[in-house]
Parts: sequence; structure tokens; C-alpha cells
Amino acid sequence: MASRREKSGQSVLGSRIAVAVGIGILVGCVCAFLFPHGFFSPPNPSLQSRRLVKSNLQIDSSSCDSSERISMLKSDIAGLSEKNAELMKQVRELNDKLRLAEQGKGHAQEQVVALDKPQKVGPFGTVKGLRTNPTVMADESVNPRLAKILTEVAVRKELIVALANSNVKAMLEVWFTSIKRVGITNYLVVALDDGIAEFCKSNEVPFYKRDPDEDIDSVARGGGNHAVSGLKFRILREFLQLGYSVLLSDVDIVYLQNPFDHLYRDSDVESMTDGHNNMTAYGYNDVFDEPKMGWARYAHTMRIWVYNSGFFYIRPTIPSIELLDRVTDRLARPPSAWDQAVFNEELFYPSHPGYVGLYAAKRTMDYYLFMNSKVLFKTVRKDSNLKKFKPVIIHINYHPDKLPRMKAVVEFYVNGKQDALEPFPDGSDWDVSLSESVSTVKSHSCGNIIQDGSLKESQHVPRQLLLQTSSLSLAQVGPRSVKLTEPTVQRVEGDQVVGLLYQLFWLGLDY
Ligand SMILES: *[C@@H]1O[C@H](CO)[C@@H](O)[C@H](O)[C@H]1NC(C)=O
Repeated sequence: MASRREKSGQSVLGSRIAVAVGIGILVGCVCAFLFPHGFFSPPNPSLQSRRLVKSNLQIDSSSCDSSERISMLKSDIAGLSEKNAELMKQVRELNDKLRLAEQGKGHAQEQVVALDKPQKVGPFGTVKGLRTNPTVMADESVNPRLAKILTEVAVRKELIVALANSNVKAMLEVWFTSIKRVGITNYLVVALDDGIAEFCKSNEVPFYKRDPDEDIDSVARGGGNHAVSGLKFRILREFLQLGYSVLLSDVDIVYLQNPFDHLYRDSDVESMTDGHNNMTAYGYNDVFDEPKMGWARYAHTMRIWVYNSGFFYIRPTIPSIELLDRVTDRLARPPSAWDQAVFNEELFYPSHPGYVGLYAAKRTMDYYLFMNSKVLFKTVRKDSNLKKFKPVIIHINYHPDKLPRMKAVVEFYVNGKQDALEPFPDGSDWDVSLSESVSTVKSHSCGNIIQDGSLKESQHVPRQLLLQTSSLSLAQVGPRSVKLTEPTVQRVEGDQVVGLLYQLFWLGLDY
């Protein structure tokens, strides 16, 4: 009985539950149909906030998970990029080794890269070699901050760049004033100290202060003249890597026209010259006479006055960057050398046993348009026709009294003051210069003459080599201090050989 009652009680209970569940489902369906977005409308604040709290909790727990994962990924990335940097370094080192090995073994044919399919040669007079190398692929990652500045400053991917520290503030002012006057906007000062950065800022001159780099900064602060001058090759590299063509400019330059209107852009390096006429600027056959050779007494030599490493246009190509690297590398190692001499040696010396020359295309700028101060003061200011002609720039590279001469150039060419150039001598004052040039010669020659000892052991050195060395070391002195004189050279070396060299040099110089 009890069990039956229990049973019937159970079945009644079960059917009631089933009915309740059925009603529940029915009501649920009706509700779902009537209120598809739920019962609780947004204006009900308490319920809303309860829901928010709930969802926040969910977000919190999930964001906890993902932030952990992010930090894990970050550390992974850091590890990987470290590894990557290490691998890149290894690749660089291996490339260097490869290059050295190739140079050492002289496997010239391995370096010949077939750039194109063999070409059929056209008729006589129509054949032109390849001059203009392709530009490199821009790589912003080498310096994103500089890349950003350059996108703002450069025009058609080119700009004027000058390095300056506080020692040259006064010249820098004449420099950028002349640039602004001409209407050039694409120029940039690489500020080597805070003083010059401030100076640029207050004059609205675009500038770039490098990130601290102890290697470079120590040179910028305390380095000698040559060392600081050599910095530019190192700093320029990044500009080229970022894909920009740079017109590198010293600050002892006055701009009278926009140089970008007068470039050819067909070469890796397009440079102003230290030459002062067609022969010295553009090259000539210098005949060397050695009578005791009789029938063969005349030896023909190729000569050209050096390119001025204070004003050149350099395109972002592989040979250009190789040039910068070569010069930087040589200036970083003893013997200490003058950056302009190194720049020219790397550009011009051909490959020969034990040496692979640079295969770069070069162009000499018109020496009347891109004028050095020797041309101006020795020739142009005395010639009524040449005087009327307006150069693009004038570089006071041959004279130590730079600032007054720069100002005189502005007076003459900009303000039309006809006698502004008159007070200055062609060169510099003999007496004042003497002591200066002695020290100049000493500082220059320590790298090239005295330290390597080639002149001391001159008896064993072939004459051609002597000639080369002499013209090099004396030419070094020339552009930076014109005042170099006979007594100076003799006093420094006090050696017959040097006297002979000196004579040969001045014979060659006197055009
Ligand atoms: C110098 O070279 C220029 C350009 O090549 C030429 O026009 C000029 O006649 C030359 N001057 C002299 C004196 O040879």
C-alpha cells in the first residue's frame, strides 16, 4: 500500500514536474519571441551596472591572460632580435672576410657581375658606357628619427648637409643666411654640440642632433681638425642608406644661387675642385722630363688637382657608400691623414697589384660656378668680364681669414659693393702664415712623409713614387693654407730631396 501510495505519489509528482517544465519552456519561448534582446531595457541602471560588472570581470580575466602572453611574446621578440643582430654581425664579418679574400687573391673575374644581357654594339660614335649607378634600396630602420627629419626637409630626395660645432658659429650664420636668401629649403645642419643646436633652433635652421655615440662624440668634442673633418664621411653613410642624395657642404661657403639647379646627377660623386683653370681642374698630361733617358726623356703623366671634400654631391649608390666606408676606415686608423687626401686617393687610384680601386663614377664641377677662393681672388676679381658672372657658390677654402672674406663675398655679389673684394691679398700674408704653415706641414706630413719614412729613404725610392708622394703631401698643404712657402718646406725637412720635390711641385703649379 505504502509502496503503491508512494508510487502514485511519485507519478503525480513526476507529471507535475513535467507540466512545470513544459510551461517553463513555453513561457521561455514566448518571452524569447516577445523580448529578443532580453527583459532588461537599458534605462534600468541597477541591472545594467550589474551586467557591466559581470562583463568586466570576464574581460579582466581574459586581459590578464593576454597581457601575460604579450609579455611572453615580447621577451621572445627581444631574444629573437638579439639573435638576429648577432647573425647580421656575423654576416657582415663574413662579407668583410670575403671581400678581403677576394682582394687578396685578385680574383677579378669573380667580381664581374653581369648586369645585363650581352648587348649588340651600335655604329661608331654611338656607344656610351654605363655611368649612372642605380640607387640603393632605402632602409629606414638604420635611423628612423633621421628618416623622419629627412622626409620633412629633403626636396626630391636630396638636401644640403653641413656639420657644425660651436667653433664655427659665426661662419655658420653667414652660411645659412646666404642659403635662406637664395630660397633653398632643403638643407640640414648636423649639430655636433648643444650650443649649435640651440643656435639653429633660435634661427629656424633645420638641424639634427645625433643620438649619443661615444665613439663619435669624443671625436666631435676633443678631436683634432682632421678627426672632426673625417666624421662627416661616417655620418653621411646613414643619409645614403636612407636613400637620399647629399650635397655635403663645409660652412665656409657662401651660396649665391641654388646648386640643385646646376647638378648633373650622372655620377656617384660630383665634386667641386681645388683646381683653378681648365687643366688643373679637369685634368692634363703633365710631361716629366728626364734628359738622361735620351730618346725617351719625356714621360707623360696624368694629373688633376684634388676634389674638394668640403663640397660634393654624393648619390646613394653602392660605390658611393663604399667610398665613405673606405675613407672612414682609413681615417680611423694610423697613420693619421688629411681627410681630403684620403678622399681623393680612394676615388682616383686605380686597381693595381695588392690593391683594388674604387669603381665609382665621378664628375668635376664647373670651377667658375662652384668657385674656390683661389679662383676668386687670384683671377675673377681682376677680370672685368668674369666679375660680372655670378657663381653658384664660393668656398673660402684657400684662405684662413674665412669670415671677413665670406662677408666680402656677400657684399660684392649680393649688395653690389664693387670694391668689397679689393682689400684682400691674393693669398695670405706671408709673415703671419709662416709659423702656421710650419705646423700645418708638420701635422700633415707626420702621416705621409715622416712616419712612413719614404722620403728619408729616398735614395731607394723610384722617382715616380717620390713625385707622387711630394705632390700629394704638398697638395695637402695647399688648399687649407695657401701660405705654404719655400722656406717653410725647407725648414721642416731640411733635405735636398725635399728641395728637389718642392721645385718640381712649384714648376708644375705655375700656370
Ligand atoms: C675651358 O673649358 C671650357 C669647358 O670645357 C671651354 O669652354 C673653354 O673654352 C676652356 N678654356 C680654355 C682657356 O681653354
